[in-house]
Amino acid sequence: MLVFGTRPEAIKMCPLVNELKGRPDVFETVVCVTGQHREMLDQVLQAFSVVPDHDLAIMKPGQTLFDVTCDVLLDIKAVLEEERPEVVLVHGDTTTSFAAALACFYLHIPVGHVEAGLRTRNMLSPWPEEFNRQVVDILAEHYFAPTDQSRRNLLDEGKPAEKILVTGNTGIDALRTTVRSGYRNKHLDWAAGSRLILVTAHRRENLGDPMHRMFRAIRRVMEEHPDVKAVYPVHMNPQVRDAAHAELDGFDRLRIIEPLEVVDFHNFMAASHLILTDSGGIQEEAPALGKPVLVMRDTTERPEGVAAGTLKLVGTGESAIYEAFTELLDSEAAYASMSRASNPYGDGHASERIADALEGEV
Ligand code: UD1
Ligand code: UDP
Repeated sequence: MLVFGTRPEAIKMCPLVNELKGRPDVFETVVCVTGQHREMLDQVLQAFSVVPDHDLAIMKPGQTLFDVTCDVLLDIKAVLEEERPEVVLVHGDTTTSFAAALACFYLHIPVGHVEAGLRTRNMLSPWPEEFNRQVVDILAEHYFAPTDQSRRNLLDEGKPAEKILVTGNTGIDALRTTVRSGYRNKHLDWAAGSRLILVTAHRRENLGDPMHRMFRAIRRVMEEHPDVKAVYPVHMNPQVRDAAHAELDGFDRLRIIEPLEVVDFHNFMAASHLILTDSGGIQEEAPALGKPVLVMRDTTERPEGVAAGTLKLVGTGESAIYEAFTELLDSEAAYASMSRASNPYGDGHASERIADALEGEV
C-alpha cells in the first residue's frame, strides 16, 4: 500500500504506483490518499491517471497540524485493518507520512520510506518536516534513500546498512515524462521575449513576515529590471495568498496564477530563466533542468543541489534576496555558474529500483 496526501508526495509517488501496478504478477498495489491537500492532490492524480482505492478526504480550510495528524491517524486505522498490507510505503516529510507511519507502527505493519534520510538537523527548519522525516526513519524498516548523502545521514544515525538502498529521487522519474519540446501556454506566450522568473512559496515557517520580505525583495528587483517577467503559481493556503496579493498586486510584469498542473509546471521550469522558491521538490528538479534556484530558506536538506552549483541558499531577509536576485540578473558569470544541468538526484529510474528491491522482500 502506498499512502500519500499532498501535491509533492503525489508527484513523487505516482511514478512508483504505476511502476508497481505494471508488475501485477508480483504485487497487489493499493493506493490510499489522505486528501491532506484536495485540489492540488487531485491535479496530480489526474496527470498520472492514478485512481486511489481509499480516500480519507481529511482536508479542512485552515487545518492545523493537530487536525492533520489526528485525522490521518484515526481515519487510516480502518483502511489498514481492512487491507492488512505486507508493507506500507510513505514519502518524505509531510504530516500525512508521519501519521500514516505511526498508525502502521501501532498495527505492526512494516513501513518503507521513500526519500529517506534527508536532514537539516534543525527541528525548526523546515518545520514540522524535519521532525516528520526523522520520526518516519525511526519507524521504517526499508529506506529508499535518494542520494549517497542521504544514505550517509541514515548510517550516522545507526540505521542498518542492509536496509538502505540508494535509488535516486522518484521526482526525477516524473520529470522524464513531463517536459516536452514545443510545449505552449498562454502565460509563456505573454513572457516571450523577456527573461521568465518562476516564483513559489509555501513553507509554514515562512508564513507571515518572512514571506512578506521575500515578496517585497522580488518586486523591488523586478521593478528595476524591465526585461524580466514573472509567473507565480500561488499555493492554495489562504495565508500565502493574502501575503502574495498584499505585496505583489498592481505590478503588471508579475502574474499571480492558480497552481499549475504538474506537466505545465515542469514545462514552465524548463522555459524559465531562474526560479525563486522555498519548495523542496523544486530544488531537486531544477538541477536536472540546469535552472538556477535562489532558495528562500535558512536551511536546506538538499546539499547535493548546492554542491552541483544550481542552488543558492539566500535566507529570507529582504536585502539578501534582493542582492542575490540582482546579481543573477546582472552578472552573466554568476548566471553561467549556476545554470549547468546535472543529475545529483538520479537518472529517473528510482521507481524501478524500489520495485526491484520490494520484489525481493515481499
Ligand atoms: C504541506 C506539507 C508540506 C509540503 C506542502 C507541499 C505538512 C505539515 N506540510 O504543507 O510539508 O511541503 O504541503 O505543498 O505536512 N489548501 C487548499 N487546497 C489544496 C491544498 C491546500 O485549499 O489543494 C489550503 C487549505 O486551506 C489548507 C492549507 O492550504 O488548510 C494548508 O495545507 P496543509 O497541507 O496543511 O499545509 P501546506 O502548507 O500545504
Ligand atoms: N509544482 C506543481 N505546480 C505548481 C508548483 C509546483 O506541480 O504550481 C510541483 C513542482 O514541480 C514540485 C512540487 O510541485 O514537483 C513541489 O511541491 P511543493 O513546493 O508544494 O512542496 P515541497 O516540495 O516543498 O514539499
